Amino acid sequence: MKAILCENFGGPKQLVLQEIPSPLIKDDQVLIAIKACGVNFPDNLIIQGKYQFKPELPFSPGGEVAGEIVSIGKNVTYLKKGMRVLALCGWGGFAEEVAVDANRVLPIPDQMNMINAAGTLYNYGTSYYALKQKAAIKPGETVLVLGAAGGVGLAAVELAKKMGAIVIACASTNEKLEICKSKGADFTINYLQEDLKKSVQEITNKKGVDIVYDPVGGTYAEPALRSMAWNGRYLVVGFASGTIPELPFNLALLKGCSIIGVFWGAFAEREQKENQKNLGELVNLLLSSQLKQHHHKIYSLENAAEALQDLLDRKVIGKAIIKIGEWVEKTIEPIPIEASPISDLKETASSTIPVVFKNKSELKNHIGQNLGTTTWLKITQERIQQFADATLDFQWVHLDTEKAKTFLPGGKTIAHGYLTMSLASQFFYQLISIENINSFVNYGINKARFISPVQVDSEIRMTASITQVEELPNGSTKLFLNCSIEIKGQEKPAYVAEIISMIF
Ligand SMILES: NC(=O)c1ccc[n+]([C@@H]2O[C@H](COP(=O)([O-])OP(=O)(O)OC[C@H]3O[C@@H](n4cnc5c(N)ncnc54)[C@H](OP(=O)(O)O)[C@@H]3O)[C@@H](O)[C@H]2O)c1
Repeated sequence: MKAILCENFGGPKQLVLQEIPSPLIKDDQVLIAIKACGVNFPDNLIIQGKYQFKPELPFSPGGEVAGEIVSIGKNVTYLKKGMRVLALCGWGGFAEEVAVDANRVLPIPDQMNMINAAGTLYNYGTSYYALKQKAAIKPGETVLVLGAAGGVGLAAVELAKKMGAIVIACASTNEKLEICKSKGADFTINYLQEDLKKSVQEITNKKGVDIVYDPVGGTYAEPALRSMAWNGRYLVVGFASGTIPELPFNLALLKGCSIIGVFWGAFAEREQKENQKNLGELVNLLLSSQLKQHHHKIYSLENAAEALQDLLDRKVIGKAIIKIGEWVEKTIEPIPIEASPISDLKETASSTIPVVFKNKSELKNHIGQNLGTTTWLKITQERIQQFADATLDFQWVHLDTEKAKTFLPGGKTIAHGYLTMSLASQFFYQLISIENINSFVNYGINKARFISPVQVDSEIRMTASITQVEELPNGSTKLFLNCSIEIKGQEKPAYVAEIISMIF
């Protein structure tokens, strides 16, 4: 396979394109054929040997990939060959293939394209966590974003606006500030040309800002801290300027403000359920086009070093992406969802990020809790035909579209009830993943009720919750899930049942 290799620690210019063997996978890993890789700030640190992780030389940079699974390790249960996935792999992404631990891999919703999948979660995940969990942002508050046209900065501008804040974006060029405005910034400050503190005082009528989002550090940190309102929150996100600021502590006292560290990677590791909730909410907003990442440029693998150099030279606005190989993105229609503030979406978010359980016993703590809702799946005539071919059930109500026009309500064929039922397993894998187990079998269905017929071309999705976890004398565990498959636009569900699974 082709890969961009870092053979000696240094800048982007020392990277070389090489033909190397495909990576071998371990039992807990999958091999991904990469279609696209997001370019992130740490990629430049990692090739210089300045990052918290120092891979063995030679290695490929690139920590955020999207592609298709081409092989799976024997301990991997819920991921399958051919699945479209994204992964936060740390490094190895500027290549045609990468081996990744299964627990770092997430399925890509059908409606999300590969380029978006490769460049979204890192930036939005960080900024959403910073604003939601760390700053506890409230509508009407004022947020000052430094480095606002960078990867995490632009995501913060867009999210803060969506969360009802007044956004002041700061960047080094007017071109960058124009993009910030298009993403919702109410005010802009060119911090190379204007006095940061004075401009904030003017914009806020001397009140100051409630939240500072700082991924830059360096010389802007002190004027930003001095621009804070009473009870403000200063979010320490990163040090893109290369300088960790040393600030006078008395400012925090005088302002009554909090200085808060943001470390999304650690949050994702330590507070997995909260992070999954965040990701589900973000996926929902992205799929409905309420958030839309700005792509600076799509580079080829051959030009990957140029992408890293552009990032170092502060040329990149939003996100740079490396597209690997020649392929065409299929056109995907956004899911129509009425625009609504983020806070309203929390309970209804449909997510394809499975809830991950580290072991069987964690399941018990989730009894009675919702696992979430899958994305919508369209029931096409082709799918119905395939089911008929597999089951030899060729009744005309399912297959004869002409006769259906005359004799069936709505003039449409209907899916076999058992087709809807069988899709519960497919939906199931979107919602739940259990690690450190030997095997997992979807064992049976209890209390199944077919309530409304599913007409061709309608969309269905499943919501599920854990109702019971039963440990058996032979060491296996029986898991009971309540599931309900709904039809878009209809009050009554298509199908409800209890799914029983055996875990060994
Ligand atoms: N805490 C976390 O969990 C977390 C997560 C993700 C990223 N980060 C950190 O956040 C920082 C920004 O990441 P990013 O992905 O947004 O990077 P980015 O896309 O390169 O954006 C950084 C922005 O910083 C500004 N900047 C000022 N001085 C700079 C310099 N000397 N070199 C480069 N940029 C400079 C640039 O904007 P102007 O030209 O407009 O000034 C640039 O747009 C990094 O330190 C990264 O490690 C932290």
